Amino acid sequence: MRNALKPLFAALFASGVALGMLSTARAADDALVVRGAYLAKAGDCIACHSAPRGKPLAGGLPMMTPLGAIYTTNITPDPDTGIGRYTEEDFARALREGVAKDGHNLYPAMPYPSYAKINDEDMHALYTYFMHGVTPVRQANRDPDMKWPLNMRWPLKLWNAVFLDKGIYQNKSGKDVAWNRGAYLIQGLGHCGSCHTPRGIAFQEKGLDENSGTYLTGGLLDNWFASNLTGEHNTGLGRWSEQDIAAFLKTGANAHASAFGSMTSVINNSTQELTDTDIAAMARYLKSLPASGGDTRAPYSYDAKASKVSLTRPAATDSGARLYTVYCMHCHGADGRGFAPMLAPLAGNPNVLEKDASSLINVTLNGTGDLVLHGVPAPYPMPRYAPVLNDKQIADVLTFVRGAWNNNTPAVQIDDVSKIRKATQAAR
Ligand code: HEC
Ligand code: HEC
Ligand code: HEC
Repeated sequence: MRNALKPLFAALFASGVALGMLSTARAADDALVVRGAYLAKAGDCIACHSAPRGKPLAGGLPMMTPLGAIYTTNITPDPDTGIGRYTEEDFARALREGVAKDGHNLYPAMPYPSYAKINDEDMHALYTYFMHGVTPVRQANRDPDMKWPLNMRWPLKLWNAVFLDKGIYQNKSGKDVAWNRGAYLIQGLGHCGSCHTPRGIAFQEKGLDENSGTYLTGGLLDNWFASNLTGEHNTGLGRWSEQDIAAFLKTGANAHASAFGSMTSVINNSTQELTDTDIAAMARYLKSLPASGGDTRAPYSYDAKASKVSLTRPAATDSGARLYTVYCMHCHGADGRGFAPMLAPLAGNPNVLEKDASSLINVTLNGTGDLVLHGVPAPYPMPRYAPVLNDKQIADVLTFVRGAWNNNTPAVQIDDVSKIRKATQAAR
């Protein structure tokens, strides 16, 4: 009897050991999945790879390129319509070199020139997450809205030969751990430059790190001007402390400005989820960028006097001042200081002082209201004025805002308002 049971016990014991080993492997995998999920947030994959009201990461979001619209692809692990058959090598090649599994080149609307900097450890965690932490969705990819010959992909190989900087991020000596971590996140996964760096004639970012004087000096994409993030005093982050920058990335607002436009989705899906240490590192790196891309104006200083007069005189002949009093003053204040961080100040606001008025026009036409922090929408969104004010009125009120409180920034042109109204109405 005892002898008869022996093999059974032995088998049970062996399978117990095997199970134990399996569960340790499982735990290691789970930790990798969690780490990969965090990195996917830092890379904001979901913002582009999900269509409005579509399934997460199943693709289908239209993106405008100079050649026509293209659609983001399904990156869930579905084997037929998604990336379920990608090996880790295929995955790394797509992220770093912009080449899909079947060998076709991706348009650089996928920020692979930034993701090229992701290191091997993070790439492995990301791959593990996409294969084991994402629910597969069956949804076929859509072809780009481009006609032959614009839809040919081989010219992208030439583009890569000229503009793609291969090689993962290398720590810079003489800089501390936080600075290097911040640089890695901002240049790599965060792909901040894909919006904040001006683009050249071939749609390439004009600089990919701080060695270029144009890196993060501000760029126009999809009718939003993504602000200058260098130390420039008026239009950049020169007057912001590292704590101000961290507060903006965590909560979408601080004493100087509030998030709106295409920055909203960055905060909704990405930066608010990052650890305080990572956010502090990003702020440290940004604050180290020397002033660049500015103009010759004197550094801004607040002055309430001049605009008070035009606002308090009821018969003000300035149409912009009248419109401001009626439509904007109850939120942004007679003194232009708003009630930060709830209601953005307009006096000295870097976006107001920026030469390119696209963001101001767009936010006044289309409002905000989509900032969501930990599931809670922003309490006082900026209203839409597209149905209320015509192009001339919007130009007038913004011209007033740009001249008031010592803002000292050139007028807004009616034509620019018309153009952005047309472009953003088409997108609605
Ligand atoms: C700014 C928008 C954007 C972001 C952010 C983005 N992607 Fe993409 N991605 C695209 C577009 C657009 C394509 C399709 C390009 C094409 O068809 O040429 C694409 C294609 C891909 C492909 C190729 C899939 C295939 O077979 O077609 C993979 C893999 C991929 N992305 C993974 C990722 C991952 C992982 C992240 C986050 C770390 C990410 N992407 C973030 C825009 C984006
Ligand atoms: C999809 C485009 C896009 C991406 C990607 C993006 N931004 Fe922005 N960002 C904008 C736009 C547009 C604005 C101007 C509107 C505003 O102030 O919110 C902005 C504003 C900002 C501001 C406020 C500047 C000011 O003067 O008001 C900061 C700080 C900022 N972004 C940091 C970042 C960082 C850090 C990243 C990368 C993790 C990033 N952004 C990625 C579009 C983008
Ligand atoms: C109901 C209150 C409210 C009214 C009225 C209002 N705004 Fe705003 N505005 C906001 C809020 C809040 C923000 C910050 C973005 C957010 O949190 O949604 C904002 C942001 C802005 C910004 C971007 C500033 C930045 O943070 O960089 C501009 C420019 C602006 N408003 C102009 C105007 C103009 C011009 C009018 C009048 C035609 C106006 N606003 C009326 C609440 C208001």
